Parts: sequence; structure tokens; C-alpha cells
Amino acid sequence: MSIDGYIDDATASRLLLSNDADFDRVDAVRAECDAILVGAHTIRQDNPRLVVRSPERRDARIARGLPPSPIKVTLTAHGDLDPAASFFTTGDTDKIVYCASSAADTARKRLNGVATVVDAGDPVDLNPVLADLTGRGVRRLLVEGGSSVHTRFLTAGLADEAHLVVAPFFVGDSRATRFVGDGAYPWNSRYRARLAEVRQLGDVVLLRYALSERFGR
Ligand SMILES: NC(=O)c1ccc[n+]([C@@H]2O[C@H](COP(=O)([O-])OP(=O)(O)OC[C@H]3O[C@@H](n4cnc5c(N)ncnc54)[C@H](OP(=O)(O)O)[C@@H]3O)[C@@H](O)[C@H]2O)c1
Repeated sequence: MSIDGYIDDATASRLLLSNDADFDRVDAVRAECDAILVGAHTIRQDNPRLVVRSPERRDARIARGLPPSPIKVTLTAHGDLDPAASFFTTGDTDKIVYCASSAADTARKRLNGVATVVDAGDPVDLNPVLADLTGRGVRRLLVEGGSSVHTRFLTAGLADEAHLVVAPFFVGDSRATRFVGDGAYPWNSRYRARLAEVRQLGDVVLLRYALSERFGR
């Protein structure tokens, strides 16, 4: 995020906040996960690939009997996703779409052949989604945004660890998207999160927070 807490600006193009060293750190974190989740709006807005970039890390995963990149996961209420998005077309790995019941049939037709669409109820509840992922062998899930997804996981107390990277500039535009939205977070002035690590990576800083007793396992 920017110094003032934004994870994008208000323009249509993607805002780069990380530097090369941090993109490489994220790649290493991805390589250690079983699945990566983003919200449907991030797919529509940023068209991310969400794959492990380093050939050495991909090879190391294959040697461990894993797909080269983690499973890709998204959440959608409306099912309005483009099968040509990089999320679906890149990476030799499964793609799973958890979709609200009312849109699941339409999404299944639209994404036929590029993703598994799971009817996730109405409204979509994260706990059954996580239970379903566990059933598919996912032990470690990396949530990469955007704001509404961060807000849902954090307010529900479902994150074990948070990685917050601060880029050295301001966005200064309240039309832009913040790291999180309004909500009742488990951590407040009386119940502080545990700061587990501070790491400088060139001109950005990583803050790692331990958010549950499962941190570090
Ligand atoms: N700097 C970074 O590291 C970073 C990373 C990721 C994203 N971003 C930025 O974040 C912004 C996007 O954030 P955002 O908050 O607008 O969107 P988002 O969190 O990416 O996606 C929101 C969408 O996800 C679906 N969704 C989320 N929770 C759901 C639930 N419980 N049940 C059903 N569907 C659910 C809905 O999709 P439908 O609308 O399809 O129903 C919702 O509109 C973009 O500007 C992007 O650039 C920045």
C-alpha cells in the first residue's frame, strides 16, 4: 500500500507499489502456498496472472509433486468473469470460482473448460469456502486482495498472518481503493496484533503481523 493506505489509484491502469525485491519476495511466498485467492474485481481490474514466476521455484514445486503454481481461487457474487482473463488462461494449475448460487449456472456456462465453478451459497460464506479448499488439499492459502476480500478475511478473523508492504509515496485520492474498508476488526487499541517482523527491501518496508496462534506453523 501507499504511505496513506491505498492499494491502487483511481485510474484504470494498475498502480505498481512494490519494487523488484518485493515482487521476488511475493514470488517466494506464492511458491510456498497451495492456493492463491483474489476477489473477482481484482481479476476484472488488474488482469493478474498469479503464477510463480521463477523457473527454479516452479521446478522445486514440481520436484515436490506439486503443480508449478498454486491453485487459483476467486470469489464472485455475480459471476461476471471473462474466460479470457489471465487468471484462467495462464498457469498449469486448477482454477476454482466460488460463486453465489443465483449466478452459479451462468458462471459455469461462461467458464466451461477454464475453471471449476462451485456453488457457494447465497450469500457466499467464507467458512464453507475454506472447508471446501481444505478438502481439495489446500493447507496454506495466500489472499492477495483486493480491498473487499482483505476486509472480509480480516474482520472474520480468518487470517493467520498479514504481510503489509508500504511503498514510499502517497496516492492522496479518496476515490482510490484502500487496503481495507470499514469493519469491526479483532485487533484494536485494546487488543493489539503482534508485530512479528520488520524488513526493509530497498525503498519499501515489509511489516509481518502474527494474527492467530497458527502463525509460523
Ligand atoms: N496493491 C495490491 O497489492 C493489490 C492487490 C489486489 C488488488 N488491488 C486493487 O484492489 C482493487 C480491487 O479491490 P476491490 O475491493 O474493489 O475488489 P476485490 O476485493 O478484488 O473483489 C471484490 C469482488 O469479489 C467478489 N467477492 C468478494 N467477497 C465475496 C463474497 N464473500 N462472496 C461473493 N463474492 C465476493 C465480488 O465479486 P462480483 O462483483 O463478481 O460479485 C466483489 O465485487 C483494485 O483497484 C486492485 O487494483 C491491489
